[in-house]
Amino acid sequence: MATTNPMPRLPAGFLWGVSTSAHQIEGAADERGPSVWDVFTAEPGRVRDGSTAAVACDHVHRHREDVALLADLGVDAYRFSVSWPRVRAEGGLDFYDRLVDDLLAAGVRPVPTLFHWDLPADLDWLERDTAERFAEHVARVVARLGDRVTKWITLNEPAEHTLLGHALGVHAPGRTLLFDALPVAHHQLLAHGLAVRALRAAGTFDIGIANSHGPTWPASDDEADVAAADFYDTLLNRLFADPLLLGRYPEGIGGLMPGDVEADLKIIAEPIDWYGINYYAPTRVGAPQGGEIEFGGVRMPAELPFSVREIAGHPVTGFGWPVVPEALTEVLTVFADRYGDRLPPVVVTENGCAYDGLDDTDRITYLDGHVRALHRAVEAGVDVRGYFVWSLLDNFEWAEGYGRRFGLVHVDFDTQRRTPKASYGWYRALLREQRG
Ligand code: FCB
Repeated sequence: MATTNPMPRLPAGFLWGVSTSAHQIEGAADERGPSVWDVFTAEPGRVRDGSTAAVACDHVHRHREDVALLADLGVDAYRFSVSWPRVRAEGGLDFYDRLVDDLLAAGVRPVPTLFHWDLPADLDWLERDTAERFAEHVARVVARLGDRVTKWITLNEPAEHTLLGHALGVHAPGRTLLFDALPVAHHQLLAHGLAVRALRAAGTFDIGIANSHGPTWPASDDEADVAAADFYDTLLNRLFADPLLLGRYPEGIGGLMPGDVEADLKIIAEPIDWYGINYYAPTRVGAPQGGEIEFGGVRMPAELPFSVREIAGHPVTGFGWPVVPEALTEVLTVFADRYGDRLPPVVVTENGCAYDGLDDTDRITYLDGHVRALHRAVEAGVDVRGYFVWSLLDNFEWAEGYGRRFGLVHVDFDTQRRTPKASYGWYRALLREQRG
């Protein structure tokens, strides 16, 4: 259970929100073009329960009900994503236009993410040109919504999209390129930088990115384990953050990237106004174990220079992820130490857990612990300005299908009925209390 000690107050002006993404909730797949995720989920064996996101939460047709849930929850902000394939479809931007109007009328600030993994099926992040196409997409969206939307997120978790989608093949587009997937990272970073320029050209000034980060703990003090953990830490915590915040790749990586890397880094390091961190759990990493391993449903080939290990001694979520709130304090303080004054204010753009049931006290315990952990980072001097729970609704959890329920609101996928869970009530009460 959540502790009964009063929750400490976060600073005035702190932004409380919830997050979703287009492909995971929108449905209405026949009202837009295909994305790489539609192609991927149509292939047998890709998604655990064989499902697709063709209907998902049918949010495109039910967004008014969902906006009412947000208003009743009392969040300051709603992070959603704009589907690039929908924007390209005739009238596709009309949906976001209505959504933004309805959010503002309900007193909820819209915070769109411009890319959350649902790449149009005819595009490919291995191609540099995709970065330029993305900048055009961004310019179109901001031209339509920029009179009302003031806070923007360029990309969601390019690290996962690279690693799971292009290196290990468990997410769309299902490639297994291992380290040959690195150009996908570079092109997404370039896309981010070009998007920042497009947003600035349209006069916006509140721009961030949502990257996944988490502490990487070595499996032991052995040199080989420490080196493997360092390597993993570089991939997860520095491969994207160093170019964005320092204008350079971690040692040894720049040479593996395509094109005129030095010139691109100038674009990639365009200043941003805040840095989004998605945090779920830490990772324990050791030296390779001499064969393929399976961890958390992900098959990792023997060639990888590290192996992911179990974290014992902590409760786990319904997804099997360890619940370690203090690791959120760790990731925030380590990040602030690592980047110093190069780090703009931070927003936790995702945090949450998968559990079944409407009386989801485990989720309350998880969220309560993580908000307290965030507060400890603020007390330690980290400038954290917001916190977004993943997710408003149960939704299509990528390769896991509908079996992992991250929502504060339960969705019955047969009837589309929404039912707030106990955690929704908890978050609502927390927000009221925080505002005094
Ligand atoms: C993050 C994704 C988000 C959701 C959560 C559980 O990696 O950004 O879409 O799937 O994990």
